[in-house]
Amino acid sequence: MSQVDQEYDIYRALAFVYDQVMEEVNYEHWADFIDEIMQTHHRDPLRILELGCGTGSLALSLDELMCYSILATDKSPEMINVARRKKQEMITSRVSFDVVDFMDLSPLHPRKFDVVLLTFDSINYLHHQDLILQLLEEVQQVLNEEGIFIFDFTTPQNSEQAIQSLDGEEGYYENFYYHRKSRYDEEDRIHVNTFTIQQLDDDRENVIDSFQEVHKQRIYTLSEMRSIIHNSSFDILSQYEGFDLVDADDDSLRVTMTLTCPQTT
Ligand SMILES: C[S@@+](CC[C@H](N)C(=O)[O-])C[C@H]1O[C@@H](n2cnc3c(N)ncnc32)[C@H](O)[C@@H]1O
Repeated sequence: MSQVDQEYDIYRALAFVYDQVMEEVNYEHWADFIDEIMQTHHRDPLRILELGCGTGSLALSLDELMCYSILATDKSPEMINVARRKKQEMITSRVSFDVVDFMDLSPLHPRKFDVVLLTFDSINYLHHQDLILQLLEEVQQVLNEEGIFIFDFTTPQNSEQAIQSLDGEEGYYENFYYHRKSRYDEEDRIHVNTFTIQQLDDDRENVIDSFQEVHKQRIYTLSEMRSIIHNSSFDILSQYEGFDLVDADDDSLRVTMTLTCPQTT
């Protein structure tokens, strides 16, 4: 038995409890919102690539709409393993899952997609403009003509509001326990979530193993994100607030953007 926390690659141990951590998230509602955006900004979206898909909840919900061919990818093999298990339980799902780092999409070449998705703050793991620009270049390489890139990010207002409910959050899933410590540095705009994940014995009385993952996300304002995109080859088609087709502004908590690349149109 080990009580010593090991610092781990992110989304490795968290994969065991991720769906419990996200218990309150309504992925079906989220999929309907993404579907609405795709239908608004693309003539005939068919081939979808999801980046940073985690345990596949969004892709599996989108697949239930029965009109898309979906490849869902994530850098973490552990998250993809969970996604594949969930797919097997669904029997009829046609989503394909693969391990892919979104900073290098060359393993997908020469495949092209009508829509590339990156949701739930995954872009906030990129701490510098240069990294976001590199991601956009990678996305451009895998987009079809008239293809669109849909991604979301959270803002400083979101971090300031969420910190109280996130800090100290804990829960159990099967024989795992997790605890989240959450702090937000308003000055350098880094939101740090430190997860302790413990593997327990069958009676949940003794700790068999304990892991620690430190997740650091850079929090962007809408103006900052817009100015980064202006330095790329992409144009902004829309910027929505929350989960409605309502224009976001600098007070929005979560912004979902739709981009297109004029060279490909
Ligand atoms: C906040 S989770 C969101 C997961 C999923 N989109 C959801 O809605 O539940 C962020 C995900 O991004 C993935 N990720 C972070 N950096 C990545 C990278 N460079 N390439 C691919 N996936 C990455 C993580 O492994 C994790 O699954």
